[in-house]
Amino acid sequence: MSGRRNEILREIGLGPLWRLREAPPFGAGEPAAEAPDDTPPATPATPSPAGAPGAVARADAISVMDWPQLAEATAACRACRLCERRKQAVLGVGDLQPQVLFVGEGPGADEDERGEPFVGQAGKLLDAMLGSIGLARGRGVYIANTVKCRPPENRTPQAEEMTACFPYLKRQIALLQPRLIVALGRPAAQVLLDAEVKIGAARGRVFDHDGIPLVVTYHPAYLLRNLPDKARAWEDLCLIRRLASQPAA
Ligand code: URA
Repeated sequence: MSGRRNEILREIGLGPLWRLREAPPFGAGEPAAEAPDDTPPATPATPSPAGAPGAVARADAISVMDWPQLAEATAACRACRLCERRKQAVLGVGDLQPQVLFVGEGPGADEDERGEPFVGQAGKLLDAMLGSIGLARGRGVYIANTVKCRPPENRTPQAEEMTACFPYLKRQIALLQPRLIVALGRPAAQVLLDAEVKIGAARGRVFDHDGIPLVVTYHPAYLLRNLPDKARAWEDLCLIRRLASQPAA
């Protein structure tokens, strides 16, 4: 990041706000949040339609659940192998009538322990990012993940895991009806847009997810390791703030 840009970010209060005192060792409990563009996609762009026997009936059942039923269903879910090593399923947290829904990858060690998304180092950064545009976890914001159970060793969720879990996210979106969805990182963007996505090319654009505007930005865990991209993330946050404050259509 150039000195001038640093200066601007400091002036708008972003530098200190975003600086974490100690960088966590990479992989220490945080989901990996792969590099957005330079690595081959860890998952096929379009997860195959949920073809397992009973998958349609299961998706139909989830599509009419209320919040307590969703919490119960995810806690008991055995639709993919991620259930085997979870301490608990992590459904989501926040305002049930949010302006913005943020969707990450999947719970890490801290989230698995606490049952809440984004409570580790990446979560601290996400909170700072929200604060920088006048939002907060639980105030105008709901936070969820593409998968509700922690992938082992914090690896990126696999396509079939995201496919198995998607009915829950879909129902969350239907219940929340956010004004805007923000995909944090490539797996979330790909599952929500059902297409191959390169973050570098997709950020700054407004997509559509079932009639709801959707934007894509870097995953906070990626930003922790790639500080220069924070300036781009700030541009994304400005777009998020603008779209979130537009009156509902
Ligand atoms: N990273 C994610 O994608 N989700 C979490 O809940 C925590 C870290």
